[in-house]
Parts: sequence; structure tokens; C-alpha cells
Amino acid sequence: MNKTLSGADVVSLPDDPYSDENLTDPYPLFERMRSSGPAVWLEKYGVLAFSRYDECREILDDYRTFISGAGVGPKNLHDNPPWRPQGILELDPPIHTAMRTAMSGVISPRGVRSLRTSFEAFAEELVDDVLAKAEIDGVADLAEIFPIRVFGDAVGIPREGREKNLLLHGAMNFSAFGPENDRHQLYFEKGAGTHEWVMEMTSRENLAPGGLGQQIWDFADRGEISADQAPLLVRAMLSAGLDTTIFSIGNTLVALASEPSQWEALHADPRLVKFAIDEALRFESPFQSFYRTTSSDTSFRGINLPAATKVLLFVGSANRDTAHWGPDAAQFRLDRQAAGHLAFGMGIHQCVGQPISRLEMEVLFTALARRVKSIELTEQPVPLLHNTLRGWESIPVRLIPA
Ligand code: HEM
Repeated sequence: MNKTLSGADVVSLPDDPYSDENLTDPYPLFERMRSSGPAVWLEKYGVLAFSRYDECREILDDYRTFISGAGVGPKNLHDNPPWRPQGILELDPPIHTAMRTAMSGVISPRGVRSLRTSFEAFAEELVDDVLAKAEIDGVADLAEIFPIRVFGDAVGIPREGREKNLLLHGAMNFSAFGPENDRHQLYFEKGAGTHEWVMEMTSRENLAPGGLGQQIWDFADRGEISADQAPLLVRAMLSAGLDTTIFSIGNTLVALASEPSQWEALHADPRLVKFAIDEALRFESPFQSFYRTTSSDTSFRGINLPAATKVLLFVGSANRDTAHWGPDAAQFRLDRQAAGHLAFGMGIHQCVGQPISRLEMEVLFTALARRVKSIELTEQPVPLLHNTLRGWESIPVRLIPA
């Protein structure tokens, strides 16, 4: 069926991208969406969705026409009060610019380099532990523990309470970028109280001297951002930086464990870890979909879009688009040129925390690549179903030491 939108006909699909089935394996639906045209109409949600690489990238690059300030979830925050004060991700220039300058000042190449030694020490400790066990759950024993410790320490929040609050908080936060269905409701129920804990951690007295959180407050002291903006930036680190990295580590692990030849190559030359990380981010993108809103009446690919139209971008699909990545886009390949993937977004909102999560993954997978000869899945990994995040609930694996 076609939906006639002013200016063009687009294919209208009855499918629900957020059903259990489609979240478990989104790729057949993504393929149908991409082959239906530059955009499709999702009937169930009454929204125009983009799933091809070129369209997603163009929209993300054009931040003046496709704004984030009305929210990157389905609700228009200009008309509906947000569930919490809007952070950097959901602000437009010029306020976004000042906050972004502070955040990228703190996550500078020099600042990130200084984290390497402590990340490496904990990675070695963790690899000792998992090798002693031999059979592990790649999620609970590896993917969660590492960022909770090293990223939490880097931001400078107390260690107590991290496990209990940060994961549920992240999952709740990312739920707001998808539909308000039962799953959304569940993650909000599970996350009750965690927002308050996170906000408490963003106050100056709870942040360790010299940590990334305190450095954000230094920007406020110098008047470069306001005292109201500082806690919002620390909150952004804590809400955007943890689940995404945990899921990335899990996704990379599953991709490598499923392709023994790829782990073999990595073990033979751990310098390939950087390529494995980008290819895994492309192959299974942790943050699958989010929205933009038109700032004025506009036309895109011949479709007329009135001001304040919400558009849904499936970057997880764009990263599998054969028109961009070639016919083997559904294959995980260490030798692929995966640069330009949209897993960290693109344009002015492109992930400001990516150097930290890249460092975390590089350090952890280098330690594993050096000391683990092979990785075998002992059972099928269990997917974690979430409206906007893609990852695993558990990854049963056996590690064979080198
Ligand atoms: C592999 C891990 C990560 C993934 C896949 C990821 C993904 C993303 C994506 C797709 C966006 C852009 C969303 C949009 O355009 O609407 C984004 C923005 C952002 N990310 Fe990440 N992220 C990761 C790690 C981190 C970390 C470790 C931090 C901690 C500092 C972080 C903090 C942020 C912030 C603050 C923004 C908003 C930037 C802005 O609006 O200017 N992220 N991330």
C-alpha cells in the first residue's frame, strides 16, 4: 500500500519495528524498508521513517532543517513538557554549542590518553578473572563490569551504587527515544529512583577531584557554561555513556565468537582490534534509532514536510545498507573499511564520548586478543529486547587461553 504525502507517494508498511520478533532480528524488516524507497510510512506509529544510509546521513548532517531541540524521541518537546530537563543531545545551537565545547574540552585527546594506564590495569585484572573461570557470561562477567568500573572512575563518581543504578537508568533513558509501549513502561518502572541517584552524583561534592565530572564543573567556574548546565553535562555522560559501551562490547564479542577465523586473525595481530571495534559498531549498532524534527516547511527527496514533522532514523539499518557497504553488508569482516558508519551518529551531535568508549573497547579487546587463543559460544546468546538499544542479556562463552 502507498501513503500519499504531499509531493510524493511512499510505501506504507503495517509492520512494527518494536515487536519482540523485529527487535530480536530487525534485519529482514530493515531490508524491506530500504527496498521500499528512500522513506517508508510506518502506519502503526504514523511516522515517516528513513532506513537507507544516504538519507540518514544527509538528515543528520543538516542540523538546521532537522533539529534535535524538539526531542530525539517521538514526542515533540516543544509542545509536551520533557520528562526531565533537556540535555545536550536534545538542544540546538547556540546553547548546544557552548555545552558541546565544554564536553569536548573535557573529553580531549590528552584527557582521554591519561585514562589509558588505569583502563589497562583493570583490563588485565579482569582477563585474569575470566580466564580463571574459563566458561563465563560475556555480559555479566565482562561487558558490564569493565565500563562500570573504568568509566565510573573516569567520571569520578563513588563506586557504591553504580551497578544498582546506572544500568537501569541508561535503559530508562534510551527508552524515551522510542514509542510509549509496554516495554517502555517496564523500563521506566525498573528505572524508578535511578534518575534521582544519578542527579545526586552530578553534584560537585560527589565528584572526585580531577575526574571528568569535576572538569565539567571547572567550565562552569570559568563562566563558560552555567551552573545549571554543569550537572546536565555530567548526567549526559552517565546516561549516554554506559549502556551503549556495554552493548558495544557484547556485540563485538558475539560477532567475533561467531566467526572463529576473525578471532584467529585478531589473536595473531591484536593491532586489528581498532578495525574490529568499528566493524562491530557498524554490524550491530548499539543505538539503533532516534528522531529528528523539521524546523520549518521543507522538502526532502520530493516529500513535502511541514514544520514540526517528526522523522524516524534507523541508523542500525543504514549501517547494513548494501547500496553503501556492498553486497556483503550483513557479514562481519575485519578487513572492511567501516569508517563513516552511523553508530555514533553524524553532524553536530555526533557522539562526543566516542574517544572514551573506543579506548575502553580497544584496551579490553587488546588484552583479550593477546591472552585468549579462541572464543566459543557454548549456547545461543540471549538477546536483550529494548526499543532503541541493541545488545545481549547473556553471552555464554568458553575462553581458551593462549
Ligand atoms: C559505543 C558507545 C556509544 C555509542 C554507540 C554512542 C552513540 C551515540 C549516538 C548515536 C549519538 C548521537 C545521537 C543523535 O544524533 O541524536 C551520541 C551522542 C552523545 N553521546 Fe554517545 N555513544 C556511545 C558512548 C558514549 C560515551 C562513553 C559517552 C560519555 C561521555 C557518550 C556521550 C554522548 C553525548 C553527551 C552525546 C550528545 C552529543 C551532542 O548532542 O552533541 N556516548 N552517542
